[in-house]
Amino acid sequence: MNKFIWYPTAKDVWDALNQGNDGSQQVVTTTVKKSAGNKRKQTENKVLERKVARREDDGGIIASVHSSVFKESEKRVEGSCVKIEGYDFNQGVDYHLLVKSFGSTGFQATNLGEAIEIVNHMLEWRLSDEPLDEDCSEEEKELSYREAIKCKVFLSFTSNIISSGLRETVRYLAEHKMVDVIVTTAGGIEEDLIKCLAHTYKGDFSLRGADLRAKGENRIGNLTVPNDNYCKFENWINPILDLMVVEQKSENILWTPSRVIARLGKEINNPSSYLYWAYKNNIPVFCPGLTDGSIGDMLYFHIFRKPGLIIDIVQDIRAMNGEAVHANPRRTGMIILGGGLPKHHTCNANMMRNGADYAVYINTAQEFDGSDSGASPDEAISWGKIQASAKTVKVHCDATIAFPLLVAETFAKDAKKHSETDDQ
Ligand SMILES: NC(=O)c1ccc[n+]([C@@H]2O[C@H](COP(=O)([O-])OP(=O)(O)OC[C@H]3O[C@@H](n4cnc5c(N)ncnc54)[C@H](O)[C@@H]3O)[C@@H](O)[C@H]2O)c1
Repeated sequence: MNKFIWYPTAKDVWDALNQGNDGSQQVVTTTVKKSAGNKRKQTENKVLERKVARREDDGGIIASVHSSVFKESEKRVEGSCVKIEGYDFNQGVDYHLLVKSFGSTGFQATNLGEAIEIVNHMLEWRLSDEPLDEDCSEEEKELSYREAIKCKVFLSFTSNIISSGLRETVRYLAEHKMVDVIVTTAGGIEEDLIKCLAHTYKGDFSLRGADLRAKGENRIGNLTVPNDNYCKFENWINPILDLMVVEQKSENILWTPSRVIARLGKEINNPSSYLYWAYKNNIPVFCPGLTDGSIGDMLYFHIFRKPGLIIDIVQDIRAMNGEAVHANPRRTGMIILGGGLPKHHTCNANMMRNGADYAVYINTAQEFDGSDSGASPDEAISWGKIQASAKTVKVHCDATIAFPLLVAETFAKDAKKHSETDDQ
């Protein structure tokens, strides 16, 4: 007896696949033994009938799938949207245009573009842009007065920002009095002072801790700091701490972290230091965590040398919150690099005035863990730390890349206009 076994060909499978899952199964799984001509014909007819029926059903399904895939778009208002387009290097290398193109590049380049726009709004804003408030004083009605009232800019950063070369950017902003209030942590204070006494060096993220320890070197990311720097810092700061104890006792001086910092800025007397310029230009520098760093070590050892120094954080919370509470009729803007204490301290002070008007975060922290470091501007809106109508953006980026670009396209671009110092 002739035995003929039929297997589906690739074309059969393709045809069936085009008709949907069930059709394909028919062909793939049905291995038809075709022993007698009639039986084979009957089977084939049945399969064909089923296929035709299924094809008719599929017509409706495919039409609905098609319409969901090719859903019609809402019409855009001409000119209301940014077309995604990057920098064309056929124009040559123009850094200004390159950074300008970030806004239309997408992803974090676009966020940085938005941050630049927001900071420029912050800097351009004048009270004269606002409608006259009926209750305002006679002085506030004067156009010249209104044109002179600018947004109050809070700049906050984590300690490593000062360990890095961003210290020079912060120094530039303080030197030209382009920001009004600075907030940082202990490292952000001492690293600035220590750099006036000795250098920080380029290292590598992969340098081994045990090897560095043996050499008396400390690592901050891919930077290294010789331990000697801290010895020099101790020698420098101890006589100042001694004097502060004397002044506290003989002149009833109440030291607060911001007063200590201003004093250190005065004593360092070095124009490479941002604290020196902050002191000279009366920019308050707040640091409620002043003891959590090398300064804390110095204060600890100093207690045994000359006890009695009191540093009052309560007076500083009054001063810090006062910067926001009494900012009116000015608007307030926050530029916050990194998270942690400086971020929250700045946002919290702005809560005291029902929220800042502008907020730019440059920050690598994520919000999925519920951390304040990672919290978006929108979370701060829920607390009243940022106004609901505020212009805000978070740039997810290492600040060492994003911040100099932001400063180049904002404060430094029109330096004369944004500086409060007389020499500009
Ligand atoms: N050089 C130093 O970093 C240094 C030195 C001495 C003491 N300390 C102390 O360590 C403690 C913790 O330091 P901290 O409060 O300054 O913050 P941190 O270094 O813990 O940073 C907080 C968060 O900010 C974000 N961040 C940090 N660097 C960033 C960057 N370059 N770009 C974008 N986002 C960034 C990260 O998400 C990070 O989790 C402080 O009390 C500080 O005084 C630090």
